[in-house]
Amino acid sequence: MDPIKNPFTPGAGCPPYELAGRADVQEEARILLGRTLRHKPEKSMLLTGLRGVGKTVLLNTIEQEAKVQGYLTVNFEVNENQSLGLKLIPALRNLLFELDRKEGGKDLIKRGLMILRNFIGSIKMNYGDFGIELDPLPGIADSGNLEIDLPALFLAVAEAARVKNTGIALFIDEIQLLHHEELAGLIMAMHKLQQKQAPFVLIGAGLPTLPRLAGDAKSYAERLFSYPLIGKLSRQNSYTALTAPAASENAEFSPDALESIYQRTHGYPYFLQEWGYQVWKVAENAHISLQDVINAEKIVTKRLDDNFFRVRYDRLTEGEKKFMITMAECVAPCKSSDIAEKIRMKATALTPMRANLIRKGMIYSPRHGLLDFSVPLFGEFLLRNRK
Ligand SMILES: Nc1ncnc2c1ncn2[C@@H]1O[C@H](COP(=O)(O)OP(=O)(O)O)[C@@H](O)[C@H]1O
Ligand SMILES: [Mg+2]
Repeated sequence: MDPIKNPFTPGAGCPPYELAGRADVQEEARILLGRTLRHKPEKSMLLTGLRGVGKTVLLNTIEQEAKVQGYLTVNFEVNENQSLGLKLIPALRNLLFELDRKEGGKDLIKRGLMILRNFIGSIKMNYGDFGIELDPLPGIADSGNLEIDLPALFLAVAEAARVKNTGIALFIDEIQLLHHEELAGLIMAMHKLQQKQAPFVLIGAGLPTLPRLAGDAKSYAERLFSYPLIGKLSRQNSYTALTAPAASENAEFSPDALESIYQRTHGYPYFLQEWGYQVWKVAENAHISLQDVINAEKIVTKRLDDNFFRVRYDRLTEGEKKFMITMAECVAPCKSSDIAEKIRMKATALTPMRANLIRKGMIYSPRHGLLDFSVPLFGEFLLRNRK
């Protein structure tokens, strides 16, 4: 069918035509945002899930809701090369200027900017002209210790927002990549903000390792955050993820075509989009049949292997590849001890390898002593490409 009209959206962070099966989390977020803006205590939210389940698009959808409710928002993705401080500084500076344009509260905005400038000094960077004449305000957010500085900085920004009758919503994607002390500082800041009932909310997204990382950084993190698990879609929601975009272009799937795609994707959103996209391309008319699905199989597998899986696979060392293939052979989740037994490598070599694979976001530990892939269906990919 006409490729220009193709309504499917495979790709990291690409908003789907239909955000299927996430109504509960969206409602939870709506309540969290509404309560925080009214200074009522509520747990902040960290969305967790495997790669390609739709965390980023959900995060961005919740940001839209925050804006509708009247929040000012900050949204960024953590990456390994830039510190949390460097991400926050330009974002909070813009935010304070935006707040400044609202009526009243000049003193608190100025105070917020001063404290931000202190913070910049504390992480030893030169941010150039700040666009405003500032007197020094020593002793706040300038210690160089994030657990002290981030709470002070966020509180100052939240107080400035409060006088302007608004709130701040901070969205952080790939939050599992934060360094230990950054995560600890962030959690500490949220703890302080909650105690003061400040209109400041954090909504993050990351891999399933996140609850453990947060708990290791601060033991009380569990009480501070809710961790909605973003997983694969149910059969019904998978069908909707396919039929709704198709219907928007007056096309339909036969029931056996739908079921066949569901079986092949296990309801993982990224795979549903890729299947929808390719099946659309091979289908000759608006009635998509099981035969179209069968005809698309080869190209979908190739697309997923080349794009989704291979880019991750290529980042692994030879030893890590061997480790992952051993996992695939034992049908993950597998016991660490079973891998050690099968792989015939010294335990001293295995432990750092396992840690590296977790750090690279390839595997995670769903329970003590168990390991699973962070990328859905990665085991199948490894087995079908095994030499
Ligand atoms: N609820 C959903 N329904 C249908 N498609 C979705 C849904 N969530 C995500 N997608 C699609 O899945 C893919 C991956 O989404 P993304 O947010 O990048 O996942 P993640 O951040 O978890 O890796 C995108 O192509 C997106 O369009
Ligand atoms: Mg993402």
